[in-house]
Amino acid sequence: MKWSAVTAGVIGLAGSALAQVDSSPFIDADTGITFQSYTSTDGITYRLALPAEATGDAGYDVILQVVAPVELGWAGWAWGGAMTYNPLTLVWHDGDSVQFSSRQATGYYLPGAYEDAKYTVLKGTGVNETHFKFTALCTGCASWTDFDGNPYILNGAADTNFAYAFSATAVEEPANSETGFSIHDNVGRWIHDLGGARSDKFKEWVTTNTVA
Ligand code: HEM
Repeated sequence: MKWSAVTAGVIGLAGSALAQVDSSPFIDADTGITFQSYTSTDGITYRLALPAEATGDAGYDVILQVVAPVELGWAGWAWGGAMTYNPLTLVWHDGDSVQFSSRQATGYYLPGAYEDAKYTVLKGTGVNETHFKFTALCTGCASWTDFDGNPYILNGAADTNFAYAFSATAVEEPANSETGFSIHDNVGRWIHDLGGARSDKFKEWVTTNTVA
């Protein structure tokens, strides 16, 4: 047991040293939060901040932020790096208001509502001439039940594969979080530095950015 743990640790280190990480630190002026931030070639940005104590041992909350061009129909974040059996965060805007929806796909068709992820919208959420921006505290984005029914927790110390999807076509009912929408124009994956996303300021950031 001891040896296998040590070996796993060495392999883990070598892996993270060699892996190409796609995110980098970004300080968001609207919230004062330092995120690990990734922008896809399609110009959609996915940001994450974690509590300092986040590991793979127990579930934890995250702060996420998505920034997307106003022309976009919707943008999605797949927390397990694939379409099915993991939490999906969808965001779009309805005029001046930013909308979000918690979903989970059980196949390659319209994902249904997902109740196990709860979002609290924070400051740093709004629409301007060019972009809409969504910032939220999420309980249940970093852990879920996998396809085999086993609990899965994102390792907050490691580099992690996420996936995105988006469409230029608007959702059917922009004011309704349960709305239908059509298949993505594009999907992709990236590697996010979760260890670098951790901060002992996490709780303070939640407090200072809570909407009264
Ligand atoms: C009406 C809604 C949707 C439909 C009909 C749909 C359908 C599909 C189909 C047919 C594929 C290709 C599967 C294959 O060739 O192996 C696919 C792949 C994918 N979809 Fe969707 N999708 C939808 C929404 C979403 C959403 C909301 C997300 C993420 C937030 C997402 C993420 C992905 C990803 C990451 C892939 C790549 C393959 C994989 O990870 O399994 N999809 N989707």
